[in-house]
Amino acid sequence: MSNIAFLGLGAMGRRMALRLIKAGHQVTVWNRSAQALEALAGAGARVASSPAQAAASAEFVICMVRDDAASRVVWCEPESGALAAMQSSAIAIESSTLSIGWIGELGRAAQARGVALLEAPVSGSRPAAEAGQLVYLVGGEAGVLSRAEALLNTMGSAIHHLGPIGSGTLTKLATNSLLGIQVTALAEIIALLKRSGTDVERCLGAIAGTSVWAPVAHYLAKSMLSRDFQPQFPVELIEKDFAYTFAAAGAEPSMPTLAAARSVFSQGIQQGLGGDNMTAVVQLFDPR
Ligand SMILES: NC(=O)c1ccc[n+]([C@@H]2O[C@H](COP(=O)([O-])OP(=O)(O)OC[C@H]3O[C@@H](n4cnc5c(N)ncnc54)[C@H](OP(=O)(O)O)[C@@H]3O)[C@@H](O)[C@H]2O)c1
Repeated sequence: MSNIAFLGLGAMGRRMALRLIKAGHQVTVWNRSAQALEALAGAGARVASSPAQAAASAEFVICMVRDDAASRVVWCEPESGALAAMQSSAIAIESSTLSIGWIGELGRAAQARGVALLEAPVSGSRPAAEAGQLVYLVGGEAGVLSRAEALLNTMGSAIHHLGPIGSGTLTKLATNSLLGIQVTALAEIIALLKRSGTDVERCLGAIAGTSVWAPVAHYLAKSMLSRDFQPQFPVELIEKDFAYTFAAAGAEPSMPTLAAARSVFSQGIQQGLGGDNMTAVVQLFDPR
């Protein structure tokens, strides 16, 4: 069993950390706000007062936070950041969905510090995190991954090694671009079917029997039709990922389809839907 530091106990992080505790690892947790710490402490985790304190004696340091700014604080803050405190034999694992620019910078910071880094963003939402069914999209050295593989298997059901640092993040952003396009297209189509007075569920059932239907569309359509917008993957997080995808594409991206999908999520945020599940954007086209 390993000594693990888990940094970031949001909706995903706390579920992932809990799996590690249940698997028998010795887990030390840190989170920006104290509220999330209690439940993990109750489950057997040690609590640290900073990322550095959590990381100092860990063999693996896992980070699962919101965005670039949060990741920078966790790893690189001069006094409290995890990187400076880590043992040189330890492995840093960054699982947040971040920009290509920042993960590259973090890779260079880890190298300068002499610490091995894996980028390991995940596909799969809260239920997958709870069930240990996440899909890992990993960038970094194969030898480092082989040392971390057993640990990642505690939280995930598949591990894809995509290449050097940056390749995992790019694959994750591409995955979420495809997801977002399907969300916005389905939202518009459901609104069209309703306006047309057809039996929406029957129509979608027929489409679901064709090869164009993606597995995730079952979940998306169910959420939109039942108007259940309890956050799993909130609008503001998928919009953040679109922003990172555009940043990766450079100054003059030619991605009109992605731009249109992003504008739907931006509009959703403007309309106060940022904290709701991504499927809540159906309300932009099909208001009650
Ligand atoms: N939700 C999903 O379905 C899903 C699926 C795959 C990947 N992801 C990605 O996984 C990451 C975490 O997602 P989540 O759903 O767990 O998000 P979340 O519930 O919003 O949690 C965000 C975490 O980041 C921390 N944080 C935010 N800003 C910070 C800062 N400036 N400094 C330090 N910590 C900060 C929060 O701390 P506080 O508790 O103090 O606010 C919290 O622990 C994101 O990158 C997301 O895009 C999410």
